[in-house]
Amino acid sequence: MLNFTFHNPTKVFFGQDTIRQITGEIPKDYRVMITFGGGSARQNGALDEVQTALQGYDVTLFGGIEPNPEYETLIKGVMIAREKKINYLLAVGGGSVIDGTKFMAAAIPFSGAPFLLLENKGSDIHRALPVGAVVTLSASGSEMNNRAIISRRNLMVKRAVMNPFLFPRFAVLDPTKTYTMPARQIGNGVVDTFAHVLEQYMTYPVGGAVQDRLAEGLLHVLIEEGPKALTDPENYDVRSNLMWAATLGLNGLIGAGVPQDWAAHRFGYELTVLYGLDHARTLSVLVPAMLQVRARGKRQKLLQYAARIWGITSGSKEERIEGAINKTKMFFEFMGLPTRFNACDMTNVDIDRIIRMLEEHGMVNLGENNDVTLEMMRKILELCL
Ligand code: NZQ
Ligand code: ZN
Repeated sequence: MLNFTFHNPTKVFFGQDTIRQITGEIPKDYRVMITFGGGSARQNGALDEVQTALQGYDVTLFGGIEPNPEYETLIKGVMIAREKKINYLLAVGGGSVIDGTKFMAAAIPFSGAPFLLLENKGSDIHRALPVGAVVTLSASGSEMNNRAIISRRNLMVKRAVMNPFLFPRFAVLDPTKTYTMPARQIGNGVVDTFAHVLEQYMTYPVGGAVQDRLAEGLLHVLIEEGPKALTDPENYDVRSNLMWAATLGLNGLIGAGVPQDWAAHRFGYELTVLYGLDHARTLSVLVPAMLQVRARGKRQKLLQYAARIWGITSGSKEERIEGAINKTKMFFEFMGLPTRFNACDMTNVDIDRIIRMLEEHGMVNLGENNDVTLEMMRKILELCL
């Protein structure tokens, strides 16, 4: 196992009717900005419950944070928050609202140009407003981690900002608030979580038996419970397990002490910028192709994954690996996601253009071995067609 420091300061309130517990977390004399997206938080009742819990507080609402949160929108929120001397932010929504709010929390007290926070990937953050998160869509894990993924469309940029100041102070996970997620988002959430686990598991062995078994446990839960959420969306136990799996999938626990990959995620951001693909759909297409092209470097873990996740123990090593990749693809498709560009709403995929953009954005030599070159990326993209 590799050396590591693990510190996760986010307090979690899990379960039905837990939104009311936020009252005890935010001091009464704070000026709170409640942030949300396009309206789902109103429809599923989360926003109402939050407002009821915060009766008597000085509250400002800031809605309209879009999927793949946009810098320009967030800056509007920053201006309002500064004017109203907001000193607590409470995000109510999915990963986009939570990420956008975390970025605002760093930008509000920042004296330089806020774009620098994005440009320098969070290294300039030395303080941030406290953030709470009420989750309505389980997928990103943002509610219990130090990342915010922010887009600036006019510059064709989608980038991860990371800093310890970005951990939410608390996260409320009420599974009933995810009942209204449309099927597309259920599938997206399960596949995104699956990909988060693979980014931290599917590398090379370092003797991290604890991390491996935790990761494998989460993968099994996703495979078993994910399809049930599609057919029985108001099943509390199913939603609870998917929600907790999403949070644990990216709160630092399973990645501590093991190598991490993240190439699919970083390439995926470029595909969202270029083609507007949902984040999870960039992964459902890229991950199987990446596993195929990068099978040599990931060989031992792929064989372990084949045996422990898919029960594939016979056949040559190549056959077992191929079998595991096919099973992965079939699972993504079963959850309603495409595994090829031609199954997405994408027309005219221009591989040369994607490669140019990857180069411009420095997306070279990624992965756990820093060996994902542009040439390898071209092969991966060709397999995705
Ligand atoms: O805008 P509203 O009206 O809220 O609608 C949203 C949005 O249209 C809707 N939704 C959310 N909760 C719902 C609901 N609809 C019905 N019922 C509910 N209960 O779902 C749509 C998608 O929401 P979004 O927040 O964009 O989804 P998700 O949670 O998948 O977040 C995606 C974003 O997270 C980033 C992605 O890059 C992407 O920008 N990620 C953040 C990470 C992190 N901070 O650690 C890691 C991830 O890898 C990911 O990159
Ligand atoms: Zn993701």
